[in-house]
Amino acid sequence: SWFVGWSPVTFIILFVQVFSSPFPVCTCGYKGILSCPRISLTTVLVTTWEIILRDKPSCTRAYRRDTNDTRTINCSDETISWDSRPDQNPALQIDPVAITHDGYYRCEVVTTHGHFYHGYHLKVLVPPQVTLFQLEKGTIVCRAAAGKPAAQISWTPGGDCHTVEEPLGNDTVTVQSSCRWEDHRVSKVSCSVYHLTGNRNLSIEQNSVSNFSFCVRFSLYQRSYGRMKKECMENFNQR
Ligand SMILES: *[C@@H]1O[C@H](CO)[C@@H](O)[C@H](O)[C@H]1NC(C)=O
Ligand SMILES: *[C@@H]1O[C@H](CO)[C@@H](O)[C@H](O)[C@H]1NC(C)=O
Ligand SMILES: *[C@@H]1O[C@H](CO)[C@@H](O)[C@H](O)[C@H]1NC(C)=O
Ligand SMILES: *[C@@H]1O[C@H](CO)[C@@H](O)[C@H](O)[C@H]1NC(C)=O
Ligand SMILES: *[C@@H]1O[C@H](CO)[C@@H](O)[C@H](O)[C@H]1NC(C)=O
Repeated sequence: SWFVGWSPVTFIILFVQVFSSPFPVCTCGYKGILSCPRISLTTVLVTTWEIILRDKPSCTRAYRRDTNDTRTINCSDETISWDSRPDQNPALQIDPVAITHDGYYRCEVVTTHGHFYHGYHLKVLVPPQVTLFQLEKGTIVCRAAAGKPAAQISWTPGGDCHTVEEPLGNDTVTVQSSCRWEDHRVSKVSCSVYHLTGNRNLSIEQNSVSNFSFCVRFSLYQRSYGRMKKECMENFNQR
């Protein structure tokens, strides 16, 4: 094809400038834009994106300015495309970003002044689903499900905790921390979840929650449902 013929050796290389942006991050589900080196468009001859994703043949997208022509080789992922019109902006758009988009992306711009490269090792982030709940036996569980990378969990105040990480096979990890507090004066506990997509801080009142679930369960099994529920909830609210 024409851009094989327009390979870098065709041009006199005055200088080669390599920009490196080692770990940009994109959050799953959103739109991601990767830009080429900033170069005056009038000097550009060919812009080429090389996209190397795991388990896929490398995909190449090229734009040749003099003929205003775009070509692709081995590009099967339709969510990756030129950002707008490559004659105006040669950026690459990924929309929406998915977990399969981890990989290496390189923009090469061949100009009348030389070659310019901008390479990205893209890391896709997946925000975890965070929940905090109480098990029957007074154990409180903080769970950060299916995050990438794994979230970190800490507790205030610290308790007797057991934390497990479960890889889900698609590069996401569920982290679950279960704690008990021997000191019964501890009523309110907070779970802090740290993640590159944003930190979360959730709190729970130990006793009132167990009482709340007690109330709900209790009410469901009572015939005099309305009265019992009212009493139970009043008791709950007074605590
Ligand atoms: C396209 O993909 C095939 C494998 O699917 C590979 O053999 C070939 O070299 C690729 N072509 C280019 C130009 O990367
Ligand atoms: C290049 O082609 C696109 C559509 O293929 C067209 O919209 C655009 O006006 C052309 N740009 C130039 C500079 O000729
Ligand atoms: C990863 O796998 C888990 C378990 O199958 C699933 O719940 C989750 O949605 C997946 N995440 C992504 C981003 O594909
Ligand atoms: C989370 O909240 C608890 C209680 O309100 C507080 O002690 C703790 O410092 C907070 N942690 C963060 C990271 O904001
Ligand atoms: C919750 O409230 C109910 C109804 O008032 C009461 O009987 C029960 O003892 C309370 N449970 C706890 C764990 O405090």
